[in-house]
Amino acid sequence: MKVIQANTMEAKHEAKHDIKPGQSIELLKELHILTRDGKLNQDSRRKLKQVNHLYQFIEPLLKEIQQQHADIQLVDHGAGKSYLGFILYDLFFKTRNDGSRIYGIETRDELVTKSRELAARLNFPGMTFLNLSVAESIESTQLPAKVDIVTALHACNTATDDAIHFALKKQAQFMVLVPCCQAEVASVLKKNKAQSLVRNSLTEIWRHPLHTREFGSQVTNVLRCLQLEAHGYQVNVTELVGWEHSMKNELIIASYKNLPRQRPAERLHEVLDTLGLTEMRDRFFTSL
Ligand SMILES: C[S@@+](CC[C@H](N)C(=O)[O-])C[C@H]1O[C@@H](n2cnc3c(N)ncnc32)[C@H](O)[C@@H]1O
Repeated sequence: MKVIQANTMEAKHEAKHDIKPGQSIELLKELHILTRDGKLNQDSRRKLKQVNHLYQFIEPLLKEIQQQHADIQLVDHGAGKSYLGFILYDLFFKTRNDGSRIYGIETRDELVTKSRELAARLNFPGMTFLNLSVAESIESTQLPAKVDIVTALHACNTATDDAIHFALKKQAQFMVLVPCCQAEVASVLKKNKAQSLVRNSLTEIWRHPLHTREFGSQVTNVLRCLQLEAHGYQVNVTELVGWEHSMKNELIIASYKNLPRQRPAERLHEVLDTLGLTEMRDRFFTSL
């Protein structure tokens, strides 16, 4: 009995340690990060740490926008259960009454419905959840013409590319992307492999199927970074430390600085041509 009590107290103590000041216990329970009696299990502790860790990167960006204007428009693509959106709202948006809004874009209807219900229960009026694909959201009139910050956390396959497209169209000042695996580049590398092997010895890098997949994934993110730079963004690529449960822990943060576009655009086209990916110019479009 005493051992159980001690364990319970220890779990609560550890939970306290991981929770940020002001963070809503009610929300963490609703997201099943905390159990009904306020404890964390191993999985949920990891999730909480990850989202809080990501918050450390996003908070300074929100503060920078805040210095320019009051109402912050944030769009989270491939929102899933909207962990990120809810945590951001709770920690930064909740106390604002200035038209700031978080939009969650998600194709799974049941997740959208659940997020809407949860936002209503928590009285988070500045959250909107839309049952749209990222591609559809680019033209949707349900979203504002201008957006300040776009996030996409493990948005599947090409959804990250669509999120970049969305952010470029909406002139987002910041993008925070943690890409998922993207199969499109690997499939084009595979399709053109035989031809490429004849003329380019570097094709050895992706000759074996496993390498095609891994190299395809790596090149995808390289192309995304070049594309962002070719639109005037400064790009930082880092590792989302503590993201132990996932192999996909690359964090790309893009900040619009109106930087020169010519050189990165040329490099992007050169890389595409060298790797036999010329047909992907539309995916990684530039304005030049
Ligand atoms: C791996 S989950 C990540 C969820 C959440 N961002 C997180 O990190 O917890 C990817 C989510 O993106 C959604 N999704 C996939 N492709 C999408 C698309 N093209 N447009 C919108 N949502 C998409 C899926 O339904 C799923 O909920």
